Amino acid sequence: MNQGRDVDYWINVGEKMLADRQRRIHRAKKWKFDTIAVHGLYDYSQALEQNSASIMEPVYLSTAQAYHDSAEMEAGLSYQMPNWCYSRIANPSNYFLEETTALLESYGTDLEASCLSTASGMSAIRTATDPFLVKDDSLPPMNIVSSAKIYGGTFQQFSIRRFQEQGIEVRWVTDPTNHDEWSSKINEGTRFVYGEFPSNPSVSIFDIEEVAKLAHDHEIPLIVDSTCASPALTRPLEFGADIAIQSATKVISTNGTSIVGLLTAKKDIMSKVGCDEMREDFATWVKLWPFRDNGPALHPMAAILTLNDMRTLRSRLDQMSQTAMAVSEYLENHIKVDRVYYPGLKSYPNHDLAKKYMKLVDSDRNMYSFMILAEIKEDREGDSTNTLKFYDDLQMIWRATDLGRVKTVATPCAISTHQQQGEEGRALAGISSNAVRISVGMENVDDIIEDLDQAFDAI
Ligand SMILES: Cc1ncc(COP(=O)(O)O)c(C=O)c1O
Repeated sequence: MNQGRDVDYWINVGEKMLADRQRRIHRAKKWKFDTIAVHGLYDYSQALEQNSASIMEPVYLSTAQAYHDSAEMEAGLSYQMPNWCYSRIANPSNYFLEETTALLESYGTDLEASCLSTASGMSAIRTATDPFLVKDDSLPPMNIVSSAKIYGGTFQQFSIRRFQEQGIEVRWVTDPTNHDEWSSKINEGTRFVYGEFPSNPSVSIFDIEEVAKLAHDHEIPLIVDSTCASPALTRPLEFGADIAIQSATKVISTNGTSIVGLLTAKKDIMSKVGCDEMREDFATWVKLWPFRDNGPALHPMAAILTLNDMRTLRSRLDQMSQTAMAVSEYLENHIKVDRVYYPGLKSYPNHDLAKKYMKLVDSDRNMYSFMILAEIKEDREGDSTNTLKFYDDLQMIWRATDLGRVKTVATPCAISTHQQQGEEGRALAGISSNAVRISVGMENVDDIIEDLDQAFDAI
């Protein structure tokens, strides 16, 4: 098979492939959000030359790539030309999801970004944070500064895996809207700053721009999990964050078929530790080195299912946000509800901040996403009798621990998402025993309200 082609020949082929990819990126950068979500980097030439003219991206259910000859293999495995090699490292189907995500997360900016797809949102967080938590004896003992208002699984990853098992101190910021609290927690040993926007399930937000500045003053990155906004509403990189995390299990793939994580980093991030290549292109470096060795790869079938859902992200966020706004107003006016947290409500403590950061992309309409937290009226503090009666009487809305689905789902947080954290962890995250998270889906708003209404009759 070798026709006298040496490694240099293949490096040259690789350069042409990279130039072609740049050309596609350049073209896509000129498109609007919806167009990028629909087409990404896949076009006529790829369809006609590489994919039997299919208008949809291919699903490559293959563990490994074949090479023309040993020279191509050598150039590929030494990372001197683009290649995918083995599906634990990369896969062409995952490539299309990653390229589209990088474009959407950096939409509306001149930023260059790269994305890595992972087997879950949790593995995206682990993969994004590992490289900053490496041994460096020239620095003081390391710590993480994180908002305490984060998803229960992330809270567990930081407090059990990082702190209890690895001894890495986690400095919790209990009020993420308080700039002084962030500032007082960061010191020379801090390796990264972490926040969720908005947080699941407490629907709390923070000033991304301010916290990014603070992190950068200390030469460390800001990592933001923006799963509950999605790039259709909030793109943290635009506001200075270095890395954006998505549990694409949620609203990005509303149809609920797969567990998927996405880690998108801008180029030239800040970090006190790690090599220059890591800082220059974090997501690509992670993919080629630690991710390859640790192995939390996404299955290509899940990558394509996610990409298919992502094409309609913006219009879904539009409808879901409008419905969630109406449902939150209904709940706020209900006599059996104590308190409702939804960024679109005027009563929301940081409504003005939400207005700054949450807007339907390519519009001037503020939209506040699909997640509502409602506290049900109880006779005594700490009780959950009414809450669970109401919950158990829901007829159409699903009792489940899920989020961002096409179907409306309700979750009583204290016995589910925040069960393992215990009283102390729940208090830190601001989760009370009467809190029910409602993830509004795409049903007609009248039918959602009717189901809630009849469930309230049980109290
Ligand atoms: C905000 C947020 N981040 C991360 C995760 C973890 O994602 P996954 O379930 O895909 O591992 C979740 C899951 O609910 C989440 O809500």
